[in-house]
Amino acid sequence: MDRNLALEVVRVTEMAAIASARLMGTGSKNEADQAAVDAMRKAFDSLSIDGTVVIGEGERDEAPMLYIGERVGKNSGGSQHPAIDIALDPLEGTNLCAYGRPGAISVVALANRGGLLNAPDTYMEKIAVGPLARGSIDLNKSPTENLKAIAKAMNRTIGELTVVVLDRDRHAELIKEIRMAGARIRLIEDGDVAGGVSTCFETSGVDVLMGTGGAPEGVITAAAIRSCDGDMQGRLKWRNDDERARAVKMGITDANRIYTADELAKGEVMFAATGVTSGDFLRGVRFFTNGCETHSVIMRSKTGTVRHVTATHRFDKKPM
Ligand code: FBP
Repeated sequence: MDRNLALEVVRVTEMAAIASARLMGTGSKNEADQAAVDAMRKAFDSLSIDGTVVIGEGERDEAPMLYIGERVGKNSGGSQHPAIDIALDPLEGTNLCAYGRPGAISVVALANRGGLLNAPDTYMEKIAVGPLARGSIDLNKSPTENLKAIAKAMNRTIGELTVVVLDRDRHAELIKEIRMAGARIRLIEDGDVAGGVSTCFETSGVDVLMGTGGAPEGVITAAAIRSCDGDMQGRLKWRNDDERARAVKMGITDANRIYTADELAKGEVMFAATGVTSGDFLRGVRFFTNGCETHSVIMRSKTGTVRHVTATHRFDKKPM
């Protein structure tokens, strides 16, 4: 993948973030999501790639735009530009944006063709940590055992660890166990991509992601974790027999398989995200007269470079 692509791809998340941030706090989650999808789809046209959406807005018959299998980029369908697989979420945390809560982001992950697990739209049990705790996680072990190993690797006490967990009834036992083990918990209403990626930013105050969230979000998170040399494991969790049957059709037969970050997002990967509302590692879009400011992060697994891009957009020069 051309390294310049990393600087180009941020436009895609910037445009989606700005479009959805305009609807921040309106209570209209579908409209905010649609605005992000439209803007992201349009922005892809300027990218010099032959891209295929492998994780997107849904199956072709469910989503008119950015559906799974859709070709995007300047050279969609041609051979002039590199063949890239894309996992995207134009607005990750639709409710967060609709209700003006922290942590909504716009996000894409890119890999060479075949590099991203074509995860079915089901749940995934996840554990993610930053680089200091690399090699210390194991989904086959209990949360307490994992926390002990993570604390040891990070040269901290368990009490000095903060675990981010989605605030869901299904996590009642997990939350109880984390508290019993002595770690601190940051409950989030939505947005476990941002939660997982935060573990790789020491200043985010988040050390571990635990719990079950969307499987597609797990693949996107893995691309960022790989770029930062963090660590992650995921295990698919079907919500019903239909989801299971769908996964089997996609070639996923081992229900207990634990995927490592390298298996979720393999080879050379890139990750870009722009804040929609401010969160642990990204500031949200700030509008001012005739313009706005965006804050994005772009990472590449090949070099490990993490770029923060603060951009000022002038609506008088570039109407959006
Ligand atoms: P949306 O942006 O599609 O609303 O997803 C938000 C999210 O919180 C994800 O970050 C997470 O993986 C998933 O939903 C959890 O699903 P559920 O809300 O069913 O627990």
